[in-house]
Amino acid sequence: MMKQVVVLVGAGSIGVAIARRVAAGKHLVLADYSLANAQAAAQTLENAGFACSIQQCDLGSKEDILKLVKYATSQGDVTNLINAAGVSPSQAPVERILQVDLYGTSVLLEEFGKVIAPGGSGVVISSQSGHRLPALPQEQNDALAMTPADELLELPFLRDISDTLKAYQYSKRCNVLRVMYEATRWGKRCATINSISPGIIITPLANDELHGPRKDGYLKMIAGMPARRAGTPDEVGDLAEFLMSSRGRFISGADFLIDGGCTASYWYGDLQYLKSTH
Ligand SMILES: NC(=O)c1ccc[n+]([C@@H]2O[C@H](COP(=O)([O-])OP(=O)(O)OC[C@H]3O[C@@H](n4cnc5c(N)ncnc54)[C@H](O)[C@@H]3O)[C@@H](O)[C@H]2O)c1
Repeated sequence: MMKQVVVLVGAGSIGVAIARRVAAGKHLVLADYSLANAQAAAQTLENAGFACSIQQCDLGSKEDILKLVKYATSQGDVTNLINAAGVSPSQAPVERILQVDLYGTSVLLEEFGKVIAPGGSGVVISSQSGHRLPALPQEQNDALAMTPADELLELPFLRDISDTLKAYQYSKRCNVLRVMYEATRWGKRCATINSISPGIIITPLANDELHGPRKDGYLKMIAGMPARRAGTPDEVGDLAEFLMSSRGRFISGADFLIDGGCTASYWYGDLQYLKSTH
């Protein structure tokens, strides 16, 4: 019998929380740009009974993604894809954010959409940040959703982006649109694909933001949002588990905000002051 394989790209806090919930009894491929992160996650998970292997993979590189597809399919049937890799606005320049978060995610969905097993499922971790961009012109939405992945970075309105927050927001908006586009292709293989848009979740990535140039804004935002606290990777894991379980089979091409009410408050509540700064 072929093994069932779960591929996790981005073996960080959110990714590992999801993998713990969906990878029991399957083979888990931990792919990360940082081998040290992948190794650390593998060690923890192996000590908890998971069967893992690791692969170095830069989500921003198509060559690496193709190698990952080849490796994962050599291990068995790829039943699940989790994309929880990404770089935040304080971690990288504009070009790198677009390369990894926008382009890389699009290539990953395209390539795993060719091999995902029947009945399989995937989740992409987007962000509440994408929900803060005002509505884009329909032709920009269409372009982000449907432009062949290899041509995405040539789109003129992406080439005009000069600040890292905008690059992140466009990337995360693109993730949601790309998932909508891919739902049809994945559906032809009887597989589902969805995105999750977390708010502030305490992880090393969020800690970089909490200690970076936007620190004060972050703390004020946390104090002002409906939940009055940041979230945890496990809470995102619970949502992803539902989407990837048998109970989530009627859900595809959809995006789920899990942000303690932050986005609602940004548009229509106490956090409206942020509109002038974001
Ligand atoms: N933590 C939050 O508050 C928050 C909020 C919204 C969205 N997100 C998104 O969640 C995802 C996971 O982040 P996290 O909070 O778990 O952070 P994390 O730092 O715990 O994990 C991120 C992982 O991605 C890996 N990574 C970075 N660049 C990569 C690349 N080019 N190729 C492959 N792997 C790469 C890192 O090495 C790390 O292991 C990211 O896409 C992030 O944008 C996080």
